[in-house]
Amino acid sequence: MCGIVGYVGPRDCSDVLVSALTKLEYRGYDSAGIAVFENNEIKTVKTQGRLKDLEDKLKKVGKPEGHVGIGHTRWATHGEPSDVNSHPHSGARVTIVHNGIIENYIELKEFLVAQGRTFLSETDTEVVAQLLDYKYNGNPLETIDSVLAELKGSFALGIMFKDFPDKVFAVRRESPLIVGVADGESFIASDVPAILQYTRDYYLLDHDEIATLSSDGVSFVDEHLQPIEKELKTADWDMEAAEKGGYPHFMIKEINEQPTAIKTTIMPRIRNGLPCLEECGITLEKLREFKNITIVACGTAMHTGMVGKYVIEDLARIPVTVDIASEYRYRNPIVSEGDLVIIISQSGETADSLAAMRLAKQKGATTLAIVNAKGSSIAREADMLIYTLAGPEIAVASTKAYITQLSVVYLFAFELALAKDCVSEAECRRLVSALTKMPEAVQYVIDNCEEKCKYIATKLVTADSLLYIGRGLDYALSMEGSLKLKEVSYIHSESYAAGELKHGTISLIEDGMPVISVATQTDVIPKTISNIVEVKSRGAKIILVCTDACARGLKDGVADYVIEIPHSEELLMPITAVVPLQILAYYTAINRGNDPDKPRNLAKSVTVE
Ligand code: G6P
Repeated sequence: MCGIVGYVGPRDCSDVLVSALTKLEYRGYDSAGIAVFENNEIKTVKTQGRLKDLEDKLKKVGKPEGHVGIGHTRWATHGEPSDVNSHPHSGARVTIVHNGIIENYIELKEFLVAQGRTFLSETDTEVVAQLLDYKYNGNPLETIDSVLAELKGSFALGIMFKDFPDKVFAVRRESPLIVGVADGESFIASDVPAILQYTRDYYLLDHDEIATLSSDGVSFVDEHLQPIEKELKTADWDMEAAEKGGYPHFMIKEINEQPTAIKTTIMPRIRNGLPCLEECGITLEKLREFKNITIVACGTAMHTGMVGKYVIEDLARIPVTVDIASEYRYRNPIVSEGDLVIIISQSGETADSLAAMRLAKQKGATTLAIVNAKGSSIAREADMLIYTLAGPEIAVASTKAYITQLSVVYLFAFELALAKDCVSEAECRRLVSALTKMPEAVQYVIDNCEEKCKYIATKLVTADSLLYIGRGLDYALSMEGSLKLKEVSYIHSESYAAGELKHGTISLIEDGMPVISVATQTDVIPKTISNIVEVKSRGAKIILVCTDACARGLKDGVADYVIEIPHSEELLMPITAVVPLQILAYYTAINRGNDPDKPRNLAKSVTVE
């Protein structure tokens, strides 16, 4: 995700900005840029590519010489990675860098165009720069405040006004931003690692507070422009811990990043309350042509496909086959022109998935890739492409990539159902609106279930083997829960369709064996509960992940432990229900002394067969 830095002080500002940006590289980016006051003029240098490309460009065009500036690494959301879409962006008297998403940028842009403003880039950020310029009244704080009132979404902004060449302003809502201070100098940054080489002292900016950095130091005002005192914090992390944002492991950090990752992924693909995947090469006309869909992937990505099958078949009434890429590629699959083959991959480099995609193309199918890593092989070769905007996923066991893959599959299914006239526009809007509420629901689950999962994980430590069961979407999700647990805890585990248990697997149940049941789908809950009772009466210990509504109707003693999650649109329940399963896996691994970020024998990106 984008990284922001800013500096006011005696050092060479360009050098500080580039150096600070290198410490934010772990966030992932596709372009970079800086803007520095040089002789009272703002000089901007930016480019698509890596920081090395920015450094080369700075050598070529001349590094801005000055002591006040802002810098940025961009992870494209609105508009492709390109020089012109890179930050900083400017209006006539304002230059800004931005992290986050302005949800109402289209309306704001339309308004500004009607006022005669023109735009150079496709970004939502330039809209903010132009709006600041439009509203500028000579007073930066009042101007920022009046723009804040217009903005919807999440954002962190570093701002420079041409008339104030000794100052940098900063504000945030939801997206992260800190203000670092040292003797005679100050910084802004998206994250602590960026400033650690200069200072350990920093302030946390709260929502809608505005910071002013100048040679006199740092000052803050609240949303009513009243001066406020803030508590100075001191980072006691080393660089590695800082990159984990203070979390002990990337896995738990990435679990916590899921609300933002979902929001970042879906918001740019929603227009006027409906899915809009045109930028990804997907139109309603095109979607109407497909008669069969195959989803091909490996590991966690294949489990996204399993959820996709249920959702697409339910909503769009098109048959969907889910295939493991390593099987598909050697099976002479039945696929031809008019078919759609969807490849899902976090890395975009998984050898089997890539080979499966090439085979499908060769046989005449249209391919759609859902990929997280920008510019990866699968992303480059697919006919159509939807990026999940999860940011870099470092932990081997996938969490935030999975949840963003799910989010994309839902948007795709909604659009497909609309194209096939299987849902009305009003119903599609209702589904999209429910999807936009999922980041909040996921946050709620993280906030309210972590302690319970942590406790239950202490009960799983000594298990030799366990089962995950569910029906329908809950079964699709159980597969991912089971994989997560075995990946990081090394405990044997299987997932089963709850109704299939009695055809063999129930013989494995013995006294004390943990069975994790997922029950979020109202129409099959009574059936799942019967299956739970069957295994419980044979000695299983039941851990039930269910909706609050289901929990209220439970008879005493059915489950040993209940993890309640809020009820939301049922089709979307896997998005929230996966969270406790991820947290359970994480803490079980910790309790067993494993490193959850680097499980034995596993690789993050499997580029060989
Ligand atoms: C490896 C990883 C899994 C991942 C799978 C597919 O096995 O350990 O976490 O789900 O590859 O990777 P992809 O990058 O294609 O999603």
